[in-house]
Amino acid sequence: MKTFKIAVIPGDGIGPEVIAEGIKVMEKAAELDGRMQFEFTHFPWGCEHYLKYGKMMADDGIEQLKTFDAIYLGAVGYPGVPDHISLWDLLLRIRKEFDQYVNIRPIKLLNGAPCPIEGGNKETIDMMFIRENSEGEYAGAGDWLFKGKPEEVVLQTGVFSRKGTERIIRYAFEEAAKTGRTLTSISKANALNYSMVFWDEVFEEVSNEYPDVKTASYLVDAAAMLMVKDPARFEVVVTSNLFGDILTDLGAALAGGMGLAAGANINPKREWPSMFEPIHGSAPDIAGRKMANPLAAVWSASQMFDFFGYKNIGSLLLGAIERLMEERTVITPDLGGTASTSEVGDRIVEIISQEKKVSSFR
Ligand code: NAI
Ligand code: MG
Repeated sequence: MKTFKIAVIPGDGIGPEVIAEGIKVMEKAAELDGRMQFEFTHFPWGCEHYLKYGKMMADDGIEQLKTFDAIYLGAVGYPGVPDHISLWDLLLRIRKEFDQYVNIRPIKLLNGAPCPIEGGNKETIDMMFIRENSEGEYAGAGDWLFKGKPEEVVLQTGVFSRKGTERIIRYAFEEAAKTGRTLTSISKANALNYSMVFWDEVFEEVSNEYPDVKTASYLVDAAAMLMVKDPARFEVVVTSNLFGDILTDLGAALAGGMGLAAGANINPKREWPSMFEPIHGSAPDIAGRKMANPLAAVWSASQMFDFFGYKNIGSLLLGAIERLMEERTVITPDLGGTASTSEVGDRIVEIISQEKKVSSFR
């Protein structure tokens, strides 16, 4: 039997609440499948750790994480710790150190999920966002000069290397070619006259290697409008770190809300662990009240199964999420129900156990 070693960083706020349900579901799914098992190791890193020890993670944290097959992360950030510290010293550090340069965010409206736009359904809202995850606007390059003086100046520099730009665009072309979908690039070359002109050029260059992939290219502002007006035109989408961050929250709203949005941070060469997480934050407004929706965490667990090559289990979990939302009996308040976080996790476990009974799902 194959054993996967998973580093669990539940983090802050609702992070631990939703991750507990994800783990419950992963253990059950592995047991049902019978070919694999998980060994979970918990790391108590996050804002509480910061308030106690002055750091978000252990000094040798990256070293400790290196040997795992994957990282399962809840959410980080809490009032009392500046957001730029909690983000940079844990999440972004892991993404960068492990060169998880691909951020995959499925934006897929499952049956039963609420959608704020007319005509939104499973066919019209089914996108795969591929966001550059290692540099760009989140490279952390810049300066803060004459701090506090009248002549104060801050510079936040976007960093677009040829290597970084090419590899993410090529990854997206591969994904589109493999699945026979169109590829849309989102940039902003009219205003960002260096970085995005370069991005568009690289997209053009790489597209010559994939004559069979149908492409489109939009400015980010137009893309935001079109995602709402005509979402069906987006299939595989590739964009920069910042644009991808913003547009995937818009996408999350189209596809059922933050409680349903998952993301995978992938190191495609598999030199170091990849990281799977719900994309929502720690939601201090509802933390500790047992009302957080764990489905995003379950969806990211499904991405993890896909990544490990167990696509049958990945789709079993996705199917269970869909069935639960169609039933509408055990759903959390954000989806209009009254169920608690753990009741939703329990119901997913029941559904996958039943599905397994009626079909041997291998
Ligand atoms: P948030 O995603 O935590 O919350 C936004 C809204 O969505 C809140 O009303 C919240 O109650 C709701 N929500 C989020 N997840 C939910 C779930 N699973 N079920 C039900 N409702 C849910 O974003 P916000 O409030 O901007 O940030 C809170 C903290 O989280 C900040 O410290 C921020 O820096 C951090 N953050 C961390 C992220 C991460 O770890 N990946 C991502 C985004 C924010
Ligand atoms: Mg975000």
